[in-house]
Amino acid sequence: QELQMNLEQIEKGGYDHFMLKEIFEQPNAIKDTYRGRMLVKEGIIKMAGVDDNIEKFLNANRVIIVACGTSWHAGLVAEYIFEDLARIPVEVEYASEFRYRNPVITNKDVVIAISQSGETADTLAAIKLAKANGAFVFGVCNVVGSSIARETHAGAYTHAGPEIGVASTKAFTTQITLLTLIALKLAKVKGEISNTNYRYHLQELELIPEKVQKALESDEHIKAVASIYKDARNCLYLGRGYNFPVALEGALKLKEISYIHAEGYPAAEMKHGPIALIDENMPIVVIATKKGHYEKVVSNIEEIKARQGKIIGIVTEGDTNVKKLADHVIEVPETLESLSPLLTTIPLQLLSYHIAVMLGKNVDQPRNLAKSVTVE
Ligand code: AGP
Repeated sequence: QELQMNLEQIEKGGYDHFMLKEIFEQPNAIKDTYRGRMLVKEGIIKMAGVDDNIEKFLNANRVIIVACGTSWHAGLVAEYIFEDLARIPVEVEYASEFRYRNPVITNKDVVIAISQSGETADTLAAIKLAKANGAFVFGVCNVVGSSIARETHAGAYTHAGPEIGVASTKAFTTQITLLTLIALKLAKVKGEISNTNYRYHLQELELIPEKVQKALESDEHIKAVASIYKDARNCLYLGRGYNFPVALEGALKLKEISYIHAEGYPAAEMKHGPIALIDENMPIVVIATKKGHYEKVVSNIEEIKARQGKIIGIVTEGDTNVKKLADHVIEVPETLESLSPLLTTIPLQLLSYHIAVMLGKNVDQPRNLAKSVTVE
C-alpha cells in the first residue's frame, strides 16, 4: 500500500493531482507540439500529414470538424482561426449529432476529427460516416496508434504526453496549438496572410510557452478567488470572439470536477435571456482581454455590475478599466487575439481545480465520468 502510494506520488511529480501536474506541464506540452513543425527563423511550418495532402486542404469546399467535449471546444477555436486567417469555411459538429443527422458530406469536404484519447465512439463513428461519403479525414490525436489515429486518412499527433486527469487540460491547449499551425500554413500557402503577419504569428506562438508559465504564476491569487466562490450554486462564463469557446471550456471544467452548474455564453448573448439569472449570488467569469471587442465586453461587465453580479475578470496584464468594475481580476500576458485562448484558458483551469479541491471532490476521477467515452 505504502509502495503504491509512493509510486503514484512519483507519477504525479510531487503534485497533489494528475490534473494539477498536467496544468503545469502546458508550457512544455505546447513547446513539444510545435517543436520540429514550426521553424520560426525560416518561416516554415511542416507537418507530413498536411504537406502530403495539401491539395485536399486547398481544394476543399469547407472543413468539417467533428469532436466531443473539450475537443469540440478546441474545434470551435479552430473555426475562428481557420476562417479569420485562412478564409476556409469551417463548421464544427458534435460527433454524436453529426453521425445521426444524415448530414450532407461530399468528396470536396475535409473532415478534421479531434480526440485526445483517439477512442471516443461517437467521433470514430463520425469518421467512418465521412469516409463512406468520400471525404478526406484528418485526425488530431494525443494517443499514438489509437483507433482514430488508425482510422483517419492522415493526421498529426499533439505531443502533450499522457493525460491522466479525466478533465482535459494540456490536451486542449496542444490541440489548439496544432490547429493554429495548420491554419497558419494554409493561410500562407493560399496567400491569405501577409508574410509580415505570418511571421508575427510564428514569433508570438513561440513566446506562448513562457506566457503560459507567467499565467500559471497567478495560481495563489486564483486559489484565493476560488475560496470566495467555492459554494456558488451556479456560474456564468462569458467571452467574445476567439474567447467564446474558452468561456464554454471554462464552464465545462467547473461542471465536471466541482459539480457546480455552469454555463458558457457569448458575452453579447446575455441580454437575450441569461441576464435574468444575474443577482448578487451569481459569480460571472468574463474574459475581457485587450484584443477582441474589448470595449463591448467592458460594457457587458457594466450591465452585470448594475445587477449586482459578482465579476471575475480575465484581463490582459496591466488592465485598469476592468479592474475598476470587477470584484476580482486575474491577469494573463498580452498576445495576439488569435492566440489568446492558449492563455485565457489557464486561469479557468486553475479556478475549477482549486474549487473542486476545496469541495473535497475527486479531481482526477470525477463521479460518472470516464477518461474516454468508448461507448455511445
Ligand atoms: C473534457 O475535460 C472531458 N474529459 C471530455 O469532455 C472529453 O473532452 C471528451 O470526452 C472527448 O474526449 P476525446 O478528446 O478523448 O475524444
